[in-house]
Amino acid sequence: MIKWVLLIVSIVLLSACADKKSKLELFNQDLILASMQVDSISSIAAEIKRIPRTLTPEGEVHWANQNFDWTEGFFPGTLWYLYKFTKDEKWKKRALILQNTYKQHRFFTNNHDLGFVFNCSYGNAYKYNKDDSSKQVLIDAANSLSTRFNANVGCIQSWDVDAGWQAKRGWQFPVIIDNMMNLELLFKVSEITGDSKYKKIAIKHANTTLENHFRDDNSSFHVIDYNPDTGEVRSKQTAQGYANNSAWARGQAWGLYGYTICYRFTNDPKYLQQAEFIADFIFNDENFPQDHIPYWDYDAPNISNQPRDVSAAAIIASALIELNEYTSKDYSEKAKGILKELSSDKYRAMLGHENGFILKHSVGSIPHNNEIDVPLNYADYYYVEALMRLLGLD
Ligand code: GLY
Repeated sequence: MIKWVLLIVSIVLLSACADKKSKLELFNQDLILASMQVDSISSIAAEIKRIPRTLTPEGEVHWANQNFDWTEGFFPGTLWYLYKFTKDEKWKKRALILQNTYKQHRFFTNNHDLGFVFNCSYGNAYKYNKDDSSKQVLIDAANSLSTRFNANVGCIQSWDVDAGWQAKRGWQFPVIIDNMMNLELLFKVSEITGDSKYKKIAIKHANTTLENHFRDDNSSFHVIDYNPDTGEVRSKQTAQGYANNSAWARGQAWGLYGYTICYRFTNDPKYLQQAEFIADFIFNDENFPQDHIPYWDYDAPNISNQPRDVSAAAIIASALIELNEYTSKDYSEKAKGILKELSSDKYRAMLGHENGFILKHSVGSIPHNNEIDVPLNYADYYYVEALMRLLGLD
């Protein structure tokens, strides 16, 4: 009798393992397809030393601005993931060439995007190709980013307000929810150097953001403008969302990812709780679609006619896979569901199409009439990252 019970239990366990394995095998295939899709464009990019950002309305590659582009780190970052996945030296070679094109930008102090740029590329290089030159670049970038911290406010200033469209908004010290993504660089550099000053800035920024950026339903404003002398909140607005009081999809995704990172580096339960609150807002919002690929803003009118933002979906998937390691809740089916949907014909480019971008249907900024329903290099980056995380390869 006992023998039969043991046999049945073994069969059930083995078939569960086989099922899990075959599901993971599908995600492995998705990464193989991603590497095939990126091969040609990355070879061209490395040859001409330009970084693909998106496609023009005519379907041509729009290359990142060589003077500075907040998206410049994502493409080399994707190549580092493919290097880790395949162990093929060609990805490393191309990543090194491309990230070298903007190495000097680590000294820029006029915007907050250095975390995105350097953590995603040189951060991955340091992780997968341990070398001291990447380490120093990360330290330099963290020093530059830290110059934007204002102790009166308790935040890093996101945008300067003396030029461009930002100058027209009347802001004094704008901080955007996206800025949570730049904290990973600071946390990492504290670990690398043993100097806690970077981590302290990151924690202060996360706490101030926790206080002021979130609404009662745990959706977030995009921009909080502060008085740089007193730290008082001057206004709560949007730049890339539908309205000041709306939930801009990518902003919700940045918040989710950002607080998950904060928990990783601090073990502070309030960050874990905030990440869970944000995840719950995202999945419970009445305008969150069945297929889990958000519309560009949760509160845009005639929601079912609005463009989706695949970049937000990819960021959410990647964040949930990490969050799932820390929480008693179970987000793994949600993350896998998003990745399966992104890997469908509806959202993933056919091999050899879309000039080497992996995913279609992202949105840069509708209020700026810029990059609407197009591939974006950061959608691809977080999609590849999510697949790597799911397979335990990150
Ligand atoms: N600031 C980065 C974004 O557009 O999400």
